[in-house]
Amino acid sequence: MGSGTKADGAAPFGTIAAPYVLSVEVTDGVYGTPQITELSEIRLHPFAHALHYGSSCFEGMKAHAGSDGVVRLFRPERHVARMQRTADVMMLPPPPTELFLAALPAITHANRDVIPDAPGALYLRPLLLGTEPNIGAAASPSATALFMVMASPVGEYFRSGGKALKLLVETEIPRTTPQFGEAKAGANYVMALGVTKRAQQKHGVDQVLFAPDGHVQETGAANFLLIDDTRIVTRALDQSFLHGVTRESVLRLATDLGYTVEERDVGVSELVSWRGEAALAGTAAVLAGVGTLVVNGAEHLIGSGETGPNTLRLREALLAIQRGEATDTYGWTVPVEHTAVAAS
Ligand SMILES: Cc1ncc(COP(=O)(O)O)c(C=O)c1O
Repeated sequence: MGSGTKADGAAPFGTIAAPYVLSVEVTDGVYGTPQITELSEIRLHPFAHALHYGSSCFEGMKAHAGSDGVVRLFRPERHVARMQRTADVMMLPPPPTELFLAALPAITHANRDVIPDAPGALYLRPLLLGTEPNIGAAASPSATALFMVMASPVGEYFRSGGKALKLLVETEIPRTTPQFGEAKAGANYVMALGVTKRAQQKHGVDQVLFAPDGHVQETGAANFLLIDDTRIVTRALDQSFLHGVTRESVLRLATDLGYTVEERDVGVSELVSWRGEAALAGTAAVLAGVGTLVVNGAEHLIGSGETGPNTLRLREALLAIQRGEATDTYGWTVPVEHTAVAAS
């Protein structure tokens, strides 16, 4: 783990820690005063609830440095709302909107010296942990919690660079449990991990596309879209998968660019007969082309097997707004100005 240096494009996503972190102690559901300090190890009681009973969740979003010198957060209020929803599911005290919305620019500003230029960004990682020291509390929520926002200068998420991704379509093992599908719980990621590792070893794929009982859902860390010259097709929102901010933004942009958006069930048979393009949508992935699907051991090319022109067009349209290169008619970007938060 490096610390305090800009992402140089070679370091894997998430391995460089920005120097400052924001922390808030939470007692009986009440959030204390945020403190910005230099990043260091945290002290947790070994009996802490999160360590034993998994009361741990997070968010992921980006601050982009524009060529005009302005740093912009992308749709922070959507991430705040999602973490509040996740916290509810996890029986943790949801971070108050005002505190959370002030914390994001504050920690971005504190780490301003390590925000990379495009195509890099400063990735912000809010984290919420149940800290009550009680190993008898399996059946009760943690009375105390720790809320933090850390940051990491990042480059590209997928190590394949711009190359189209290869996905294994998994129809038997689910990504997570139904009641956690919509939550950004740490547990969801470890549940998908074994399946993904085995798929990588056996089939040489980048990721697994979960399609329980043949109904396409999402991958371990991004939403899935089918795209052609006139349409975007993706699963309609339900409780089984994470409601991506990128997905929502791309669907809106696509509508305004004249595409028809179909939010509906997508079966595996439709996937293998799809004549257009496919992509993964997420904060980290942006919009990453999918070139190959492995279904029941057989490889199927999607379109030419390369990232398609509509995917690239939508990706560029989104990035241009995020980086302040196109007018943000949606009010999605929030310029970061200096926000005072108690420093210690
Ligand atoms: C499971 C999962 N699905 C979808 C997404 C995409 O969400 P967003 O676009 O808000 O980053 C992510 C990434 O955060 C994720 O982890």
